[in-house]
Amino acid sequence: MCGIVGYIGTQVATEILLAGLERLEYRGYDSAGIATVSEGKIHCVRAKGKLYNLREKLEREVNHAQIGIGHTRWATHGKPEEYNAHPHLDCGMRVAVVQNGIIENYRELRDELKSKGCEFRSETDTEVIPNLIAQFLPEKPIPELQDSNAFLEAVQKTVNRLEGAFALAIAAAEYPDELIVVRQQAPLAIGFGQGEFFCASDITALVPHTRAVLSLENGELARLTPLGVEVYDFTGTRLKKMPRTLSWSPTLVEKHGFRHFMLKEIYEQPAVVRNCLEAYVNQAWHAQENCELSPINLGLSPKLSENLAQIQILACGTSWHASLVGKYLLEQLAGIPTQVEYASEFRYAPTPITPNTLTIGVTQSGETADTLAALEMEKQRRSQLQPEFQARLLGMTNRPESTLASIVDEIIDTKAGIEIGVAATKTFVTQLIGFYCLALDLADRRGTLSASRIEEILIGLRHLPQHIENVLEQQERVIEDLAHDFAETQDFIFIGRGINFPIALEGALKLKEISYIHAEGYPAGEMKHGPIALLDAKVPVVAIAMPGGVYEKVVSNAQEAKARDARLIGVTPVNDLEAAETFNDLLPVPEVEELLSPILAVVPLQLLAYHIAARRGLDVDQPRNLAKSVTVE
Ligand code: M6R
Repeated sequence: MCGIVGYIGTQVATEILLAGLERLEYRGYDSAGIATVSEGKIHCVRAKGKLYNLREKLEREVNHAQIGIGHTRWATHGKPEEYNAHPHLDCGMRVAVVQNGIIENYRELRDELKSKGCEFRSETDTEVIPNLIAQFLPEKPIPELQDSNAFLEAVQKTVNRLEGAFALAIAAAEYPDELIVVRQQAPLAIGFGQGEFFCASDITALVPHTRAVLSLENGELARLTPLGVEVYDFTGTRLKKMPRTLSWSPTLVEKHGFRHFMLKEIYEQPAVVRNCLEAYVNQAWHAQENCELSPINLGLSPKLSENLAQIQILACGTSWHASLVGKYLLEQLAGIPTQVEYASEFRYAPTPITPNTLTIGVTQSGETADTLAALEMEKQRRSQLQPEFQARLLGMTNRPESTLASIVDEIIDTKAGIEIGVAATKTFVTQLIGFYCLALDLADRRGTLSASRIEEILIGLRHLPQHIENVLEQQERVIEDLAHDFAETQDFIFIGRGINFPIALEGALKLKEISYIHAEGYPAGEMKHGPIALLDAKVPVVAIAMPGGVYEKVVSNAQEAKARDARLIGVTPVNDLEAAETFNDLLPVPEVEELLSPILAVVPLQLLAYHIAARRGLDVDQPRNLAKSVTVE
């Protein structure tokens, strides 16, 4: 949550900071602000609401400063008003700070600082930080006698007083050649240019300037000057760190002619599914050939699956929905009992510890605070136990460079490329591919599926990208037209069964988060136990009816809804006559084996949500109250 940027170099800082914030706006957009340093003074401009408000304010002024920090906010402490917007300055206007995270002990620090005469202007937790730093700085340093480490040491003393998870960028009026950045359980990366250096919460803001990037680790702070970068730990020990070279292209974060990133990302799904399968399915493996090869190569070590008795998956939101599909696959294909927990619930009511358990943290961003904290807790509570109870932690993420990697033992990289739209789409389908591959890998290792069945599933998976392309080519216009009918609808119900129940949940979540229409996903068979009372002519029901074990049941449940006047929309195969008679509207998809159908069924639901939201004129990529990366609990 919240995005921070910083710049020090020879160019005008303001434009670079604004461009960086634009790329981070997906992290929060309640307010934005920048602070620059020139002529021994901090100049701070902030604006409530989206970034264009700040841009408008900045257009009215001339600012040639070559050092600055910026922030785009997702409000935690204090309303989304300008007075709570970052950067925050100390009461003497000597230090400016932007923060992403939460300072848990800010109340006690605030009281302490107030007792020393500090006056506070905001309701935020962040404001204690510049005030603490200012307390540790020498009073009015004389330039020629100025201690070259004074600013660094003041920050170092300050971070040792802070409790919580935070990333900071800090500038000081009296130290115009230094920018200090800090990382403690919130992401922060430094970009290395020629005589200029950048920092940002996410490398997407760095790639337009440089590919040489250093991701700080927890408990590290760095001093950026026009001459270079020095990294220290919180005790002040200098660390030797080198940047790595990214293979990313800046064009990954362009819309390429699409109206919204979300639509572009929906259209990228065939390619990312293909990529993921190419990376993880061993092309040389064939069922008929008796060789040593494994069908799947996720690069996971054998110890992760040795004597495996149980799997528990921890996740939030869309990743939780993908995990529900994962549970189905791991149980049905690999025969491993699997539980899926909301990370935010698990933390406070963990399941009893069982032996030989694999814990999988699923998070596309790799930064979701609830998921990371739940994984840390799992690691911690198992650390003193017998070997069979020790934690085995696997992460599944789209950002292998994220904080998740420092917690888990091994990673499955979902390889979807950067996703900018707040509503997850392509990263969801690649999480599903991750689970298919994992379940097949474990099935192969445990001998729960025959080689020919594994091959059959792999062939089916390889056909999916083409099927998704067909849905996109043939159905988008149809769905766009259908969406017009629902622009004023207030409630939606999504139903599905078996492996497609999570897709009903995901369809409902997509619609809720970007169109602000109330929507619920239910197992189709549960409707009659209560929710059916909600139905009338004003409540459309979207039923996911894919041929397979539960098809007839879903169609019957849909008929029950129709009998209560609900308008029925069927996500169902193209040529299904029974479906054509049952449903008022169709969102047709190609027919595939039921096991593989979630990846196809979700696509029309993403398009439906997208077109309804676009029709309502809403900000599809940055829906209200949300942020792409939820780094607060
Ligand atoms: O980065 P994560 O996968 O951990 O994020 C979890 C949720 O915050 C996320 O899936 C959220 O529900 C999305 N906005 C869904 O579209």
